[in-house]
Amino acid sequence: MLSVPHLLGIKYLNRDDVGKILHTAETFLDVINRPIKKVPSLRDITVVNLFFENSTRTRLSFELAEKRLSADVINFSASSSSVSKGETLVDTVNNILAMKVDMVVMRHPKPGAAHFLSQRVDARIINAGDGAHEHPTQALLDAFTIQRKLGSLEGKKVVIVGDILHSRVALSNIYCLKLMGAEVMVCGPPTLLPRYISSLGVLVETDLKKALEWCDVANMLRIQLERQEIQYFPSLREYAMLYGLNSKILEGLKKEITIMHPGPINRGVEITSDVADGPHSVILNQVESGVAVRMAVLYLLAGRAEDKM
Ligand code: CP
Repeated sequence: MLSVPHLLGIKYLNRDDVGKILHTAETFLDVINRPIKKVPSLRDITVVNLFFENSTRTRLSFELAEKRLSADVINFSASSSSVSKGETLVDTVNNILAMKVDMVVMRHPKPGAAHFLSQRVDARIINAGDGAHEHPTQALLDAFTIQRKLGSLEGKKVVIVGDILHSRVALSNIYCLKLMGAEVMVCGPPTLLPRYISSLGVLVETDLKKALEWCDVANMLRIQLERQEIQYFPSLREYAMLYGLNSKILEGLKKEITIMHPGPINRGVEITSDVADGPHSVILNQVESGVAVRMAVLYLLAGRAEDKM
């Protein structure tokens, strides 16, 4: 069991919660690598995946996690629903819940949407990304990936590079990594580093090479062109020159570092293809971890920790 009824953000979890999720994910990682990749743990549970914003990894990963746990799954996409006829979020969800749905996984463009819903409907809510606020399962799968690669999170140095200002991945990662004892630095153009960021206990650096020399792990964020209402840097070409990671920079470092990216990648902007697909990259391990971590979150929120898997 977790200390919270919903997963709204890492901010609401304690260290024990994150430890339980990562520990449970280890078991589910074994399950999804068996010839029979399924367990009956949630066969009495129905989950709706409610996506008001585009997604590839998170939506498919949640759906697969639910199916691997034998839950019944329904998928909702805002563009093909009655939301376009003016139905409110609460009405939409209450209509879905009337069909006897137990858990709601929701991605929404508005910060706080998952929290809002959790106070108005009678179901477990999992935030699959709410605007520029939080993306808790991404941070958990990133932490799990680092733990698998480096053995633990305690004392590890992680730099998050790029568009910190618009990134829910950055905020959730900062909360999660700090909670688990890692040291965190953010790096990017000054215009993409929010003024309050150092109050979260992170180091701030604007020179990519210095940041990379400091870290064990570099998490290269996507430039979120869809959330940039004004231009924060002169051009993508200039961004790539100053903050893009390429093999020449990587080979010039004094030690080997691990490279992460939450996806989707703007190849040639925040990271070149040879680095994204190279030996230091754990980008596809992050995707594999995502299914195991989301299985763990669903399982623990459904209160199944005492059951046999
Ligand atoms: N990392 C991530 O959230 O990707 P999607 O937007 O494809 O879900």
